[in-house]
Amino acid sequence: MELLDGKKVSNQIKTEIAAEVAKMRDRGEKVPHLAAVIVGSDGASLTYVGSKVRSCQQIGFESTLVQLPSTTSEQELLKKIEELNQDADIDGFIVQLPLPEQINEQRVLLAIDPDKDVDGFHPTNFGKMALDMSTFIPATPFGILELLERYKVETQGKHTVVIGRSHIVGRPMSILMGRKGWPGNSTVTLTHSHTKNITQIISQADIVISALGVPNFLKAEMVKDGAVIIDVGITRVPDETKEKGYYITGDVDFENVSKKASFITPVPGGVGPMTIAMLLKNTLLARERHRS
Ligand code: GUN
Repeated sequence: MELLDGKKVSNQIKTEIAAEVAKMRDRGEKVPHLAAVIVGSDGASLTYVGSKVRSCQQIGFESTLVQLPSTTSEQELLKKIEELNQDADIDGFIVQLPLPEQINEQRVLLAIDPDKDVDGFHPTNFGKMALDMSTFIPATPFGILELLERYKVETQGKHTVVIGRSHIVGRPMSILMGRKGWPGNSTVTLTHSHTKNITQIISQADIVISALGVPNFLKAEMVKDGAVIIDVGITRVPDETKEKGYYITGDVDFENVSKKASFITPVPGGVGPMTIAMLLKNTLLARERHRS
C-alpha cells in the first residue's frame, strides 16, 4: 500500500508557486491577490477560509478576507461580489459555501465574474470543464487529479466509482475522470442516495472516490483487493478528550481498508491540503491570464 500524501504534495506545490511569485516580485510585477468571502461564523468554514488566507501569506500572495455577518442579505452579498468583480487588484475570489438560508447560492455563483472564479463553480467554467476547454477546475477535484498524477496512478480503462454527486466534488470528479487523457480515460459510475446495490457497485471499482461525509462508510469488505481509495470526507466528531473538542475523520475505515488498497489518502493530510494548494494554483493562473 502506498500513501497518497496530500500534505507532502501540497507543500511541494506551494513551494513551486512561491518560486513563481518570487520571480514576479523580482520582475517588479504585481503578485496574485486572492479574496475570500465568508458569510456567518460556521466553525468549519472559518477554519477552511483561515487556512486559505494563511496559505496565501506563506507563499507570497496578497490576500483579503471579507467577513460578513450571518444576517447579511442576498442583495448585500451581491453588492460585495460586484465590488470584487470590479476591483482590478483582485485576481480571483471565492465565496465560501454553504451560505445562510436567506441567500440563494445559484444567484451568488452566477454573479461572480467567470474570469475571477477560482473555485470554478460558475456555470461558464463548469461547462468549459465538461467540454475540455481551458478553465478553472474546482479545487478539490483538481487536487485529486494532481495526486493521481504525481503518484503515477493508472486511471486509463479503470472503473472509477464516485460516491456523492455534490456540485463541489462528486459531479465534477465524475466528469474529469471520464475525460480524454490522463488522469482520466476512466469508466465512471456516479453513485448517490438513490443508487441501488451500491455495495455491489463499489466492490467492482478499481478506484473509489468517496465524497459522502459519513464517517466509516467505506469498509474493507466493500472494496476490491488492490483498489485505489480517495477519501474526500471531512467530518468533525465531537470528542471531549481532544484539545479542540473534536477530531477529524473521513468516510473510510482507514485502518482496515488500507490493508487491501494499492493507494489510499489519509484524513487528515490527504485531499484537504490539496484543495488549498489547487486554489492557490488557480489564483496564479488567474493572475497570468489577467496579465496577458
Ligand atoms: N465549501 C466546501 N468546500 C468549498 C470550496 O472548495 N469552495 C468554497 N467556496 N466553498 C466550499
